[in-house]
Amino acid sequence: MPDILITDDGAIRTIRMNRLDKKNALTLDMYEAMAEAIGTAATDNAIKCLLIAGGPTVFCAGNDIGDFMKAAGGGSLGQPILNFLYALARCEKPVVAAVNGNAVGVGTTMLLHCDYVVAGNEARLSTPFVALGLVPEAASSLIAPRLMGHARAFSLLVMGQPLAAQEAKEAGIVNAVVANEETEAQAFAAAQKIAALPPQGVLVSRRLMRGSVDEIVARIDEEAEAFKARLQSPDAQAAFMAFMSRKR
Ligand code: COA
Repeated sequence: MPDILITDDGAIRTIRMNRLDKKNALTLDMYEAMAEAIGTAATDNAIKCLLIAGGPTVFCAGNDIGDFMKAAGGGSLGQPILNFLYALARCEKPVVAAVNGNAVGVGTTMLLHCDYVVAGNEARLSTPFVALGLVPEAASSLIAPRLMGHARAFSLLVMGQPLAAQEAKEAGIVNAVVANEETEAQAFAAAQKIAALPPQGVLVSRRLMRGSVDEIVARIDEEAEAFKARLQSPDAQAAFMAFMSRKR
């Protein structure tokens, strides 16, 4: 089975992360597949809404740490990661997410680009970038403070304090908290509701609400430069080694 599953069901395109044995840690191929699924939805008139989903007990464990280690050696973050982030930022169609279990790193920051997020009551959002020797990405340093204010964004993005599902709702990242087994159905129902609205009205409203996409893309690039430098730092190297060699 591929690590990313794309399913079109009526007007809804579901993009499912499906590398469950690695808790949906994202590889470069997975980023590329997700970027393509978002990009091709733009020109497919039948698709009115995207739905990003993970597994029943884990949404996404963030970037593959082995890939981070390789990227640190090669000195580049990997174009597929940027392609995915650009695709999300430039996506004109509404995006819904269904989150169960852990959403770590980009697993959380991708949610900041979504329009409607349904979380299971055991969902847990975290961005341990700084503890890993890194810095926030995906324009989260721009979007998160706007969404939840500086203090809460600092606690999430810099201190790495996780948000439980209900806290994420209070912070404005999540729309609805439901029983875990209801997450996908509720997210799909929300996507259907959005897809049934007049598409131009949704598109224009969304465009107005999101503000300057160029500003978001510029922040993605600015963060990526800082991220690249931090990847090679002794702090990051030590944190990656610690994760890879941890005892369980
Ligand atoms: N990169 C690479 N592999 C990862 C991974 C990641 N981000 N997250 C999990 N995995 C792998 C583990 O190495 C393990 O592989 P193995 O079975 O071959 O040893 C497998 O996925 C299961 O992970 P495990 O840690 O045993 O699952 P868990 O349920 O105990 O914990 C998490 C789940 C998500 C809390 C934990 O895996 C984790 O903290 N992952 C790293 C998250 C992270 O820091 N991401 C980067 C953010 S910038």
